[in-house]
Amino acid sequence: MLEPLVFDGKVVIVTGAGGGLGREYALAFGVRGASVVVNDLGGDIKGGGKSSNAADKVVEEIKAKGGKAVANYDSVEDGEKLIQTALDAFGRIDIIVNNAGILRDRSFGRTSDLDWDLIHRVHLRGSFMVTRAAWNHMKKQKFGRIIMTSSAAGIYGNFGQANYSAAKLGLLGLANTLAIEGQKYNIHCNTIAPTAGSRLTETVMPPVLCESLKAEYVAPLVLWLSHDQCQENGGLFEVGAGWIGKLRWERSQGRIVRKKNQGMFPETVRDQWDNICDFTNATKPANINESVATLVEVLSRVETDEGIAPNPTSAMATAASGISPLEAVGQKLPESTFSYSQTQCILYALGVGMSTKDDDHLKFLYEGHEDFSCLPTFGVIPSQAAMMDGGLGSVPGLNFDFTRLLHGEQYLELFKPLPTSGTLTSQARIADVLDKGSGAVILLDVHTYSGKELLCYNQYSLFIVGAGGFGGKRTSDKAMSTVAHPNRTPDAVMTDTTTRDQAALYRLSGDWNPLHIDPSFAAMGGFKSPILHGLCSFGFAARHVLKQYANNDASRFKSIKVRFVKPVLPGQSLQTEMWKEGNRIHIQCKVKESGAVVLSGAYVDLHAAADGSPQILPEAGGLKSELVFAEIGRRIKDLGAEMVKKVNAVFGWEITKGGNTAAQWSILCRQAESAREHHAEPEAGGDP
Ligand code: NAI
Repeated sequence: MLEPLVFDGKVVIVTGAGGGLGREYALAFGVRGASVVVNDLGGDIKGGGKSSNAADKVVEEIKAKGGKAVANYDSVEDGEKLIQTALDAFGRIDIIVNNAGILRDRSFGRTSDLDWDLIHRVHLRGSFMVTRAAWNHMKKQKFGRIIMTSSAAGIYGNFGQANYSAAKLGLLGLANTLAIEGQKYNIHCNTIAPTAGSRLTETVMPPVLCESLKAEYVAPLVLWLSHDQCQENGGLFEVGAGWIGKLRWERSQGRIVRKKNQGMFPETVRDQWDNICDFTNATKPANINESVATLVEVLSRVETDEGIAPNPTSAMATAASGISPLEAVGQKLPESTFSYSQTQCILYALGVGMSTKDDDHLKFLYEGHEDFSCLPTFGVIPSQAAMMDGGLGSVPGLNFDFTRLLHGEQYLELFKPLPTSGTLTSQARIADVLDKGSGAVILLDVHTYSGKELLCYNQYSLFIVGAGGFGGKRTSDKAMSTVAHPNRTPDAVMTDTTTRDQAALYRLSGDWNPLHIDPSFAAMGGFKSPILHGLCSFGFAARHVLKQYANNDASRFKSIKVRFVKPVLPGQSLQTEMWKEGNRIHIQCKVKESGAVVLSGAYVDLHAAADGSPQILPEAGGLKSELVFAEIGRRIKDLGAEMVKKVNAVFGWEITKGGNTAAQWSILCRQAESAREHHAEPEAGGDP
């Protein structure tokens, strides 16, 4: 027998748990270690009356078996009160089973306003009120499991149950959207359509059947869907008699019934009716993108006078990944605001390993220091808020499993040194979506402003494992590319040991992903222990460059680009290898203990020193010409791709000193194709 499923430490509310199915769930949760809020209004099956008996009895039963339970007698319409009971008694809420229900069956013509309204209030509105009251608690703790109770009457319809059918299928619609909105917070919402003997069914089922269809044949599904091991989200299940089946949509190939520049006529619909309804080669659309993708395809087919049915292969490719560049590229995420004080700057500096044991770190750690500064790489923090606030999940055309998202690469450019406190706004936009075969890459551009002044620009390359193959392009001229380091031993190397609590400290700057702190969450991601944030190693590497080549002068920092290749464990040592080429410092970061490369293709660009003299390389000895070439490079970049295309040549210089070659320079006036070709996807690497 496999490991038993237990709910130790979890708090569950079962609504309508005074009898029938709800009672069974409550008892089952109780014996498996959960703390249970037994909610029941204690009325009759039509929604009349009220009593505390039903809930009290079940609480006693749970306690008698050694479980923990409290009663709540409010109607589910008072959702806040139910959640408050859980918080008061147990301090949290993890699982909600929306189960309370009544019946007011009538043939449709005889359904009164009250019949309609009461059913909707208890089933649909009640589930909404309870779930909404718990939502933010679940979001904050990044865990939640929600069960909606639908019914075969809702899915298929049933004579005399128009009010009930409508409310029950409404619950499925509610669950579908909660599953999408909750996914990134590890809140899963599933729907069951149970069948069991209870006081609700005893009037419609023969007694023998009522007796045999036991509630205990439904409860195990509810428990599994509520467990943290269960990754099911947005599912619909029929369950009863010891059987469980999953339902999904099927859609016929359909027919395009109009032609370019002609009207659309009911007669064509009539003539094509059999084909429209023919389920041969039907597809199984699983999300709204697939619906939209079909319509986009139809529009193009009508335009080009092609075919009758939308092409199943490309429609299905989109279906498989849920990624549609056509819809996603150019979409803006909601603007986000980020306020910070000097405390956050200091906390961030500590997070990326600055320490008072180095005298020259004090200017980043002590607000009273005469040169108190914010580390340049803090510039990623405000931009993260744009993504973390859930913006990405709401972009049309980007429907994917967030647990498969890796942070592949990062580019950050500062236009001004960051203030040590302030309120910044960030505007994020999908710059491009690439199809790398094994996955999709989303390029997310984020511009961060202080008032109207642009402070910094970030580009996130987000790799979604398994979401490729939708027929998109592989490369993009929007991508800030990585660059290979020179082929020689590094000019300088700097090593720092991260502490055991490095990730625990870094996360306080705003990346709360439990992967970096929670061992069981890390195990789910396939890691032995919580890993360091990729952006923490990024911060280490950047400050190594700043110290080595810019005397820790934050105003010298221009930009940084890295690719995240492998994770680092807190406690390991980070070794940054540096190669100076003019004002560009190529870097590669390794874990010293294993030699594994963790940041590759990386570089930091510095502004020239304020006194106009180039920084002197300790080993190589500086040349004045470095500055000249750095400036040429910068101007070529600023002149843009058009100029580069026109010239289309490579220029080479050899600088001699005392008859020996002191430096070689080449200026590439070609589009950086080769650099982009090296822009491979991070495969197994990337920062989760
Ligand atoms: P039940 O009548 O035994 O249990 C429902 C419980 O909800 C009752 O204890 C009732 O007091 C409570 N309740 C009613 N209104 C409430 C309110 N406003 N606030 C708090 N509690 C309230 O019925 P059963 O069969 O256990 O049904 C449970 C759920 O399963 C219901 O949502 C029902 O519609 C659904 N269902 C049941 C099927 C079955 O075969 N038993 C079939 C399909 C759906």
